Amino acid sequence: MSEGTDRLFVAVDLPDELKGELSELRTLYPDLARELRWGRTEGIHITLRFLGESTPEQKQALMRALSQLPPRQEFTLRCEGLGTFGSAARPRVLWAGVRDQERRLERVQAQVEALCIQLGWPAEERRFSPHVTLARPRGRGAFPASESLEALLARYANHRFPDIPVREVTLYSSKLGRGGSIYTTLLRV
Ligand code: 2AM
Repeated sequence: MSEGTDRLFVAVDLPDELKGELSELRTLYPDLARELRWGRTEGIHITLRFLGESTPEQKQALMRALSQLPPRQEFTLRCEGLGTFGSAARPRVLWAGVRDQERRLERVQAQVEALCIQLGWPAEERRFSPHVTLARPRGRGAFPASESLEALLARYANHRFPDIPVREVTLYSSKLGRGGSIYTTLLRV
């Protein structure tokens, strides 16, 4: 990390009950931990926008702009199923699904995205696909598909986890650590 910069991202926090349930998944097939690095329970979230290394000026401008976002009504998202990004044989991310049926989260994400572009960040090229990242490969690139992973995915394919009430978005600073990233809250709006 460069001196004086923060690795920023904007996210939606999850209720403790849901984080607890998602975190418990790691205990079902302990052998998965050989290939997968599960995230810290307290840091499980839905990313709206990753900004990466940002200067103090960028951070201040973003905090100012975020705090001027117009208030919105609270809404609820459904958290359902597990899946992976990447190829089935060599997945890159294990996630829990987020159903944004009324596209309300998508609208919030679009607002945050517009604000980031206004402030000079390049537009995010990937289409927003709401998910909760649970685990990433220990090594570089991908983790090999395994019987345990397939069993976990099949078992939870249609499982409904506790709902996600969305009341605010949070700006985080992320520090990469040995036991996974540590997030510091900078602002909640
Ligand atoms: P994701 O796990 O929801 O996909 C904090 O690091 C969050 O920012 C991560 O949870 C990740 O979102 C996202 N993120 C991290 N590095 C990223 C990168 N290089 N490009 C895009 N998003 C990234």
